[in-house]
This record gives sequence, C-alpha cells and structure tokens, in this order.
Amino acid sequence: MHLYLDTAIVEEVREIAAWGVLSGCTTNPSLILASGRKFEDVIAEIIEIVKGPVSAEVTAMDAPTMIAQGLELRKISPHVVVKLPTTPDGLTACKALTADGHPVNMTLCFSATQALLTARAGATYVSPFLGRVDDISWDGIQLIRDIRLIFDVHNLDTQIIAASIRHPMHVVDASKAGAHIGTMPAKLFAMLIKHPLTDAGIEKFNSDWQKALKNQ
Ligand code: E4P
Repeated sequence: MHLYLDTAIVEEVREIAAWGVLSGCTTNPSLILASGRKFEDVIAEIIEIVKGPVSAEVTAMDAPTMIAQGLELRKISPHVVVKLPTTPDGLTACKALTADGHPVNMTLCFSATQALLTARAGATYVSPFLGRVDDISWDGIQLIRDIRLIFDVHNLDTQIIAASIRHPMHVVDASKAGAHIGTMPAKLFAMLIKHPLTDAGIEKFNSDWQKALKNQ
C-alpha cells in the first residue's frame, strides 16, 4: 500500500517527505481552511516537495463547472489530481476529464455501489472514507474488501485510496484488505513509526556503547 499524507500544511509534507516514504498527498476544503492559506499556492508548494499525485478538490456542484474548475487546477501542474464528489454530476465530470487524460480522485465514497460507478466513469482513484463509515457503526475495512473484490473480479483498474484513516490498525487492515493507497494525517505517520521497544533498545545500546568506549 502506498502512503499519502492528508494535509494542506506544507511543513508537514516537508517533514514526512524527508522520511522517503511519501507517494502523494490529498487535500480537501476543510484542510485548506485549516491551513489559512491560498488554495493554489498550497497545492503548488506541496507538489514541489512530493513530485507526485496531489489531489485538489473542486467546489462546484454541477458537472460543467466541476470540469472547468478541474481544468483550471490542472494548469497548476501535471501532478494535480482533480478531486470530485461521488454524485451524479461528479460521475459526469469524471467521465469527461478522464476521457481527456486528466487524473481524477472520486471522494466521499461510502458504498461499494458508489465505487463501482466511479470505476465505470473511468476514475483513476476512488476514496472510500473508512473512518467516517466506522463512525456510523458500519465496517469501513469491509467496505475496502468489497470494493477490492469487485474491482478484481471485473478487471477495473481504478485505484482504491483508503481515506479518513484514524489509527494505526486502520493502516494495517486497509493494507491487508487490498487498498492501493492509504491517506492519513501527519500524526498517524508519527504513530506508525513509534515503538517503545525501539526507544528502549536505542537507550540501552547508547548506554552500553558509552561503557564500551572506556575499553577501546
Ligand atoms: C481524503 O481525501 C480526505 O481528505 C480525508 O481522508 C478525510 O478524512 P476525515 O474523515 O478524517 O476528515
């Protein structure tokens, strides 16, 4: 499973990209609001660091305006992935944009039927929101499993982005369920790398090395 950062904070992108593990980035209007910065500037700066797919969301609700906004966003960089809502107009815009070679990430996907429709509309990526599915007492990981099964059985090449990841076991389980990509906040990356036995081991090796130095 490839790892994406879900943020509009450029410093967070710089920090996690330095680990050498980042394949891309996703943003949404709420994250842009939290950044307090101009949308296009943030997207351009993130792409400069990631040098890979960065999803930027349209705000229109009708297909013609979604397409127009998507084309504007694509002028920022070929790395921009147009993020569209999983609605009838979103599907129409997805079909038009992908037919012209523009990558699209269908967001706010909450069911396998929605995911199938996005794949049939030519989506490059679909983003099932597993944390928000769990929030309403359904099973986000089972949703990822179902989508992956349907895509495999029918040879659909839309990539699944496990989104709305809330904790490390979501990362493990989404990966096992066959999500191609997991997108998560920077604090999740910090949780994934942290292990008390690694910390304790480093402390012990360091203190033993200081003692060993006296014998060198
Ligand atoms: C993904 O593209 C979304 O921006 C994100 O994963 C939403 O996560 P949330 O449910 O934690 O807001």
